[in-house]
Amino acid sequence: MNTRRQRLAILGSTGSIGTSTLEVVALHPERYEVYGLTAFRRTELLLEQCRRFRPRVVVVPDAAQAPALREQLAAAGLATQVHTGAQALAELAAEPEVDAVMAAIVGAAGLRACMAAAAAGKRLMLANKEALVVGGALFMQAVQRGGATLLPIDSEHSAIFQCLPADRAQWNDWIDHIVLTASGGPFRTRAPGSLSAVTPEEAVAHPNWVMGRKISVDSATMMNKALEVIEARWLFGLEPSRIRVVIHPQSIVHSMVACRDGSVLAQMGTPDMRVPIAYGLSFPERIESGASRLDFTRMNDLQFESPDPDRFPGLQLAYDALCAPEGVTAVLNAANEEAVDAFLGRRLGFTGIHAVNAATVEALSGRLGTIDGLDALLALDAQARQVARQFIAARSS
Ligand SMILES: NC(=O)c1ccc[n+]([C@@H]2O[C@H](COP(=O)([O-])OP(=O)(O)OC[C@H]3O[C@@H](n4cnc5c(N)ncnc54)[C@H](OP(=O)(O)O)[C@@H]3O)[C@@H](O)[C@H]2O)c1
Repeated sequence: MNTRRQRLAILGSTGSIGTSTLEVVALHPERYEVYGLTAFRRTELLLEQCRRFRPRVVVVPDAAQAPALREQLAAAGLATQVHTGAQALAELAAEPEVDAVMAAIVGAAGLRACMAAAAAGKRLMLANKEALVVGGALFMQAVQRGGATLLPIDSEHSAIFQCLPADRAQWNDWIDHIVLTASGGPFRTRAPGSLSAVTPEEAVAHPNWVMGRKISVDSATMMNKALEVIEARWLFGLEPSRIRVVIHPQSIVHSMVACRDGSVLAQMGTPDMRVPIAYGLSFPERIESGASRLDFTRMNDLQFESPDPDRFPGLQLAYDALCAPEGVTAVLNAANEEAVDAFLGRRLGFTGIHAVNAATVEALSGRLGTIDGLDALLALDAQARQVARQFIAARSS
């Protein structure tokens, strides 16, 4: 074990993954030191986290939030510096004093900071799947050139990673295909015809996992799995035909590797994100996560079934996007972020999410320019959001 504590930057510390990360960190004060935390809206929670973990730096989006926060930090006897804006997020991610970055911002908003951490060669724990879905090849190049260690935090990708040998050069020879498991979300057995009436409250009530609102809606549409298929393509270097999805309602098997010789390796555990987070923090060692243990004597049944394409049409969009020109996955992600936001704001029906995603991809697919860097990607993301908003407005008028 390192003699010096690992210095962590937790981007999105006020979210579901961010708070779970701090729970694991709190169990190991001898191993980890919190260097930086970031929030978007929940500055009260950020302040509470500062009192407990005493970071050197925090980042909030808006300069107007800074004076009050500085005052509150000073009143708590803390010398924490307050930085603001997207550039400050990227600077924290690349800060030379930071050893490891937990990328737990939701959405493409986390992309610039993820790229900065990758280029700076950090140990990069990636929960922010949207950044990889948007960044794709460019993101993986930044990881390679920067010499970063990319560690998946998504439970499915962590499961695959845990089943594979440490030497990445062996992965392609080992793997026949991988199987990502999906819970099927809250509407796995609901009649497809009734899905148009689903409310945001119903959609965010996930049966197995407690998560942020956006990923909860994505789980209900299975767009979360679609994004994970794209994520797996980049993380494990697999063509889409080698990435399969099965519904496993109990969320005990977190994913599987089907090997060349017919052997299937699975990683199991209770559905608790502290397990993949602890593995990301400690890899290649293992540390206590705080999660409850699996009790095989109390497990009734493990079921596996194929996803119903009528109920979950979004899944196919991922496979189509991976076969389309570069940039289409970024368009799909942007459309989905806008559509989910509109659904949560009651400006779009539940089934409208897929309709907007499909229409936006179709509208932009034939018109993509060259993507030669981060700015081009961010411009495409902005363009796709604008198109998606038009489709959303058209559906609500
Ligand atoms: N939750 C899970 O179990 C889980 C599992 C696997 C993967 N993931 C992935 O992990 C990521 C985070 O998910 P989550 O469930 O933790 O989400 P969440 O609870 O909504 O938290 C998101 C975090 O990002 C911050 N944030 C939101 N918009 C931002 C912006 N525009 N700029 C900067 N920061 C922003 C939020 O700040 P405020 O809270 O202060 O507004 C919060 O700290 C997602 O990509 C998700 O797909 C999550």
